[in-house]
Amino acid sequence: MHSSSWRPKPIAPLPDDEFVAWQRLLDERLGIEVPAHRRHFLETSLTLRMRELGIDHYHEYRQRLTKGVSGVVEWMALIDRITVQETRFFRDADAIQLMREHIERRIRSATRPLAIWSVGCSTGEEPYSLAMVAADVAEQFGKRLAFGVTATDISTPALLKAREATYPERKLLEMPANYREQFMLPAEQEGHWQVLSEVQARCCFTRGNLLDMGDSPLSGMDIIFCQNVLIYFRKNRRIEIVNNLIDRLRPGGLLILGAGEVIETPVYRAERVDDKRVLAYRRRMI
Ligand SMILES: C[S@@+](CC[C@H](N)C(=O)[O-])C[C@H]1O[C@@H](n2cnc3c(N)ncnc32)[C@H](O)[C@@H]1O
Repeated sequence: MHSSSWRPKPIAPLPDDEFVAWQRLLDERLGIEVPAHRRHFLETSLTLRMRELGIDHYHEYRQRLTKGVSGVVEWMALIDRITVQETRFFRDADAIQLMREHIERRIRSATRPLAIWSVGCSTGEEPYSLAMVAADVAEQFGKRLAFGVTATDISTPALLKAREATYPERKLLEMPANYREQFMLPAEQEGHWQVLSEVQARCCFTRGNLLDMGDSPLSGMDIIFCQNVLIYFRKNRRIEIVNNLIDRLRPGGLLILGAGEVIETPVYRAERVDDKRVLAYRRRMI
């Protein structure tokens, strides 16, 4: 029989002033907005991590996160708990079709390698899908297409999984059958699939915070995919990020956002792509 002291402690409510302090910290460091209705999610995520560390008070944990090198390491662990990393292969068929048409146009006049960027790539399903589409277009046109996919995310554990490139069957449910045949192999672990090494070789994973884009050397992109990331940001931040991403496109390049990520905003240097199913912008030629 378990003694009562073995029962997990209940989640302590986050005091109002602490909630505000955490909201501020997450906004400053991640750009992520935690609205009142997500307060309980924040309480739960913090408490679970605090229990692992044997910390009882929210303010104590907050102080620990903001101090020195150990704070930086702990921050990485927390990011993994509080960001939503849900993703899957070929998640948005309409967006992928738009990208495919763009590559088909580009391949006819390709004079230099095609550069694709998956922003907020999570565990890698999105960038691998994009690489498969580019490889498929090249094959269809019987052309050698030099291309590379840069994939960035703030979560180091997510990037580690992405580099492993092994996925359970359920992540592949939306992948067209011909892609599975061409680009996936059964993995050693039962019910899992491995991305073909030729596709892996096209993808480069690296840590990047959308808020520190000024430090990133990435530019001259043909296609930027940024889906299901901006929804967690405040409206002003979204506008800033979208305009920063457009700056990273080459003239005529495409920025593809998630359908739900409505940006009622002045977007400079780009025009909205006329496609009802996908929210996308094309960088102006001048
Ligand atoms: C829901 S996933 C989206 C994955 C993929 N783009 C998709 O649509 O399937 C959101 C990803 O954004 C990442 N993220 C959140 N805040 C970020 C930031 N400030 N900079 C970079 N990535 C961030 C999270 O770590 C997470 O992996």
